[in-house]
Amino acid sequence: MAMDSSGGPPREAWGSKAAFVLAAAGSAIGLGNIWGFPTTAANNGGAAFLVIYLCAVLFIGAPVMLAELILGRKSQRNPVGAFKAIMPDSSWWLVGGLGVLTGLMILSFYSVIAGWTLAYILKTATGVFEAGADTTAIFLGVAANPWQALMWHGLFMLITIGVVVKGVKDGIERWTKVLMPLLFALLVLLALRAVTLSGGGSGLSFYLQPDFSVVTPGVVLAAVGQAFFSLSLGMGAMITYGSYVSRDQNLETSAGWVTGFDTMIAFLAGLIIFPTLFHAGLDPNQSGPGMVFVVLTSLLSTIPPAPYGGIIFGTGFFLLLAIAALTSSVSLLEVVTSWGVDEKGWTRKQAAWMIGAAAFVVGVPSALANGAVSWLSSGWPQGPDFLSFMFAVWGQYSLVVGALLISLFVAWVWGVQAAGDEVRADGTRFRFEAVWRFLIRYVCPLALLGVLWTLVQALF
Ligand code: TRP
Repeated sequence: MAMDSSGGPPREAWGSKAAFVLAAAGSAIGLGNIWGFPTTAANNGGAAFLVIYLCAVLFIGAPVMLAELILGRKSQRNPVGAFKAIMPDSSWWLVGGLGVLTGLMILSFYSVIAGWTLAYILKTATGVFEAGADTTAIFLGVAANPWQALMWHGLFMLITIGVVVKGVKDGIERWTKVLMPLLFALLVLLALRAVTLSGGGSGLSFYLQPDFSVVTPGVVLAAVGQAFFSLSLGMGAMITYGSYVSRDQNLETSAGWVTGFDTMIAFLAGLIIFPTLFHAGLDPNQSGPGMVFVVLTSLLSTIPPAPYGGIIFGTGFFLLLAIAALTSSVSLLEVVTSWGVDEKGWTRKQAAWMIGAAAFVVGVPSALANGAVSWLSSGWPQGPDFLSFMFAVWGQYSLVVGALLISLFVAWVWGVQAAGDEVRADGTRFRFEAVWRFLIRYVCPLALLGVLWTLVQALF
């Protein structure tokens, strides 16, 4: 029996390189791209945000992605176990611990938004979004109705648990292979429709003509946080996925593909949302968590032939979005589940059910924060709604902290030499080794420290 580097039994592995890249891309591509990216870009000045976002992806996101995959494949463990395996008798496992906690918290509100997409499959299929429909009222009909919001949140969590119980290969691989390319094709078509809308031009300039005078430290923080959220970095999801990669696969090109796919999908989502938003005469600075749902559905009635074009496209879109969200939520639950299995000795089934149930409960206030309960919806005594608050704390700040610690660990504690050896374990060259070393040792830690410093200053 083949042993892995840590002496344990061989771990379940992805079927092929393509399967792994697609599964990791499935984790990365999700609501973060189609919901999070346009919302955050709208709130942070549009094109200038896009430029900073792209830099963050290239210079911070991509190297951290590779670092996480390396940690995973080297250790063949969940995030907590990975640090313990590589650096026993140290406190570094706490970084993995923070990641596991972050995963649970992100899953809690992620499932709320994903629940809305489930509701929207039904709505679009029944032709609710005809010309002149009040898309805001329809959104509130789902999100501000406590029973609806909780029911869809619960249903989505159940589906996620169901997939994770089945395990990595059967559960995750199957979905991503066909459906991700399909989602991509649909997004291209929707983008073509959106950019040709009347008044869409000003949306395009908001999105593509940078005005750097609007850039504040807050905008940079949002861009870096969004990059990590979208790429599923900073909490060990890619450590966990990397732990299922076999040693004959090339981690470097895998990291490149996943980063590239993810960024392309986010960019496309912006091409859809901003022209439509300006076409509908809405104000990008006023956009809460419901913005994308309200704006996107106002596009549907413009797709010929009415009303069938909108029904077919809309239903297809929300179906694919729900599946994209599922492949992401599965990765979140998978991280926490693999911790429960490896470190706590629970069975996969027990772990997935208990953790999924916990995430459902933690998600209840987020589910009630879009109109159902007023103090959760408007902040108390003032401030963001509870869901946006959770997104900021766990979906942005915590990931930045996690990524900082992960890059420090790989670059300075464990060492770039050992990390490079793991990349070369498949027998090929590590082509961008010098660049990667420079980025992970200096650029990532300094940039992330800078981002955190602004954050701390803003708090006091
Ligand atoms: N990246 C996913 C998205 O864009 C969300 C996600 C899945 C995630 N796993 C993660 C975010 C791990 C941060 C960490 O929708």
